[in-house]
Amino acid sequence: MTFHYHDGHLYAEQVPLEQIASDHGTPTFVYSRSSIETAWDCLDDAFSLRPHQICYAVKANSNLAVLDVLARRGAGFDIVSGGELARVLEAGGDPVRVIFSGVGKQVWEIDQALGAGIGCFNVESRSELDKLADRAGALGTTAPISIRVNPDVDPGTHPYISTGLKENKFGVNAEEALALYRLAADHPALSVIGLDCHIGSQISDIQPFEDALLRLLPLVDQLQREQIPLTHLDLGGGLGVTYQNEAVLDPVAYAAMVDKHLGKRALTIMLEPGRSLVADAGILLTRVVTLKENVGRHFAVTDAAMNDLIRPALYQAWQSVLPVRESTPSERARFDVVGPICETGDFLAKDRELSLVESDLLSIGSSGAYGFVMSSNYNSRPRAAEILVDRDQVIVVRERESLSDLWRGESTLPS
Ligand code: LLP
Repeated sequence: MTFHYHDGHLYAEQVPLEQIASDHGTPTFVYSRSSIETAWDCLDDAFSLRPHQICYAVKANSNLAVLDVLARRGAGFDIVSGGELARVLEAGGDPVRVIFSGVGKQVWEIDQALGAGIGCFNVESRSELDKLADRAGALGTTAPISIRVNPDVDPGTHPYISTGLKENKFGVNAEEALALYRLAADHPALSVIGLDCHIGSQISDIQPFEDALLRLLPLVDQLQREQIPLTHLDLGGGLGVTYQNEAVLDPVAYAAMVDKHLGKRALTIMLEPGRSLVADAGILLTRVVTLKENVGRHFAVTDAAMNDLIRPALYQAWQSVLPVRESTPSERARFDVVGPICETGDFLAKDRELSLVESDLLSIGSSGAYGFVMSSNYNSRPRAAEILVDRDQVIVVRERESLSDLWRGESTLPS
């Protein structure tokens, strides 16, 4: 078990979280290597019935060590910026297995990716296609491309993370995609290799994925008829995890559904999962600084805040809160677990039954995805440390920021 209690103490693999807190302080993100590997293996095995490539969505957790763990498993990477590409290369990722998504690729990012020889650009507009063709032509190379098609399906998830509806900014509709494919097929600096879609994130049900696939396949077949054959079909990420009581999207059922509909089409399946590979592999370790009660409401003020973990504030997301030591002397009460930031929206959890005294440690669950990567220095708070646990080994994979890191690159006025 990755994060589990043993004799009343919460562990990450073989290491007590109390030890990590006392050796490295809090707030700290703690990741489990074996948990990342297990999630990878489950998904990879599920799709083993077809040629496939999983491209981990780097945005979910871009720590070099996390990328390294996945690269060693044979992962490709789905990037959305030049910064993410630089990270992948720094971590030893194979550029050929990199796909570049995103609606606003800049010229420097296109040049960087062409220079690195990435595997595919997921093109989201006519403007991007033209830019890409120009840059590839100027650099004397060919850009491998997919068009991102917006299948106009409702993934039934939080509106901020649903991306496959026609009113969203992502991709192009099937009709426009066909026009772009025809243009690309005739352009000497572009090489059409795939078709891409991504309908949203934290999706618990297979139905929206099936709806999307069924809307894409006629386009695949049309392209085939027009002698624009594809080698891969990229179904995006979005596989949901259990934060509270949501159903986990079953990779085996997902793969079976895809297999059934693809039938005889010889397409490599590409996936861009982020959350499902890393969410449960991480927790945020934090210490209770102050307990207080306002008109009957109990607050546990922790040293972690919305700048460290913004999901509860931004999406009203529910993440578990577990005491690092199972029993404490005081009585149980219902607490809001909040940070010290001067905003009412600064909470990590609301109305949780806990038994707490000051300086207790808490573990905020499922923080491996969209945790540290979305953190900021708001209120001039140094960003948290990140630690990877590998069996009994504790590896600091990002040092806690120091106070002087807070103004790195800034200056006062010249005298
Ligand atoms: N591919 C593309 C093009 C994406 O936009 C995303 C996520 C993914 C793949 C990975 O999706 P995943 O497998 O992780 O669901 N910050 C939000 C999630 C934003 C997701 C954005 N796009 C959250 O904390 O819930």
